[in-house]
Amino acid sequence: MLRLAVFASGRGSNLESIARAISHGDLDAEIALVLSNNSASGALHFAREHGIPAIHLSTKTNPDPRDFVSRMKSELKHHGADFIALAGYMKKVPSEIVNTYPNRITNIHPALLPAFGGKGMYGMNVHKAVLESGARVTGVTVHIVTNDYDVGPIVAQECIAVRDDDTPESLALRVLEIEHRLYPRALQLFAQDRITINGLRTIHQSPP
Ligand code: GRF
Repeated sequence: MLRLAVFASGRGSNLESIARAISHGDLDAEIALVLSNNSASGALHFAREHGIPAIHLSTKTNPDPRDFVSRMKSELKHHGADFIALAGYMKKVPSEIVNTYPNRITNIHPALLPAFGGKGMYGMNVHKAVLESGARVTGVTVHIVTNDYDVGPIVAQECIAVRDDDTPESLALRVLEIEHRLYPRALQLFAQDRITINGLRTIHQSPP
C-alpha cells in the first residue's frame, strides 16, 4: 500500500484517475496529500472536495528557497507520504526532496521518452513538436524522477499512432486517455513492490 503525495499544477485529471483507480480497488494506495504550486488548480479543488489534505506551496507562499524545501519536507512527513506521483506538476522538484525519496518519485510525460522531453517540453509544446517532427507514433511515459528533466528510468510506456489529420489538441486528447489508464497501473507496480531498478532500466517482476 502506497501513501501517495500527488503533486499537480493544473486541471488535475490524472489525480482524478488515480483516485478513481484507488476507489475501484485497482491501485493499493491512499492519497495522503495533494500539493500544488497553483492555488487555483483543479487538483487542489478536487482534493478539498474529497477530504484529501490539500496544500498550496509556491514561491509566493514560501519565497525563501530553504523555507520552501523544509515546508515541502515537513508536509510530506506530517502526512506520512512514502511515494510522490507528479501529475502535471510544472515545477522542478527540489533535489533535496529527490534525494530523500530515492526511486520513490514518478512523473507522467505525454510522449515517448527519451524523445520529446527535457526543458520546455510540457503541455501542448510536446504535441506540437511531435507533429512538426513527422513522427508516426507518440504516447505516454511514466518514469522515475531524478535531478534532471525527463531522463529517469522508464517504468511504463504505451504508444498510439499519429493520424494524418491530428492537431496538437486532438493528439493531446488521445494521449490523455492513455495517461489516465497507464499512471494508476504503473503506480500499482510500486504498490506491489514489483519494480527493481538497474541503472537506467527498470525490471518488472511478475506478480507473486
Ligand atoms: C498531462 O498531459 C501530463 O502528462 C502533463 O500535464 C498534463 C496534466 O494534466 N505532464 P492533468 O492536470 O492531470 O489533467
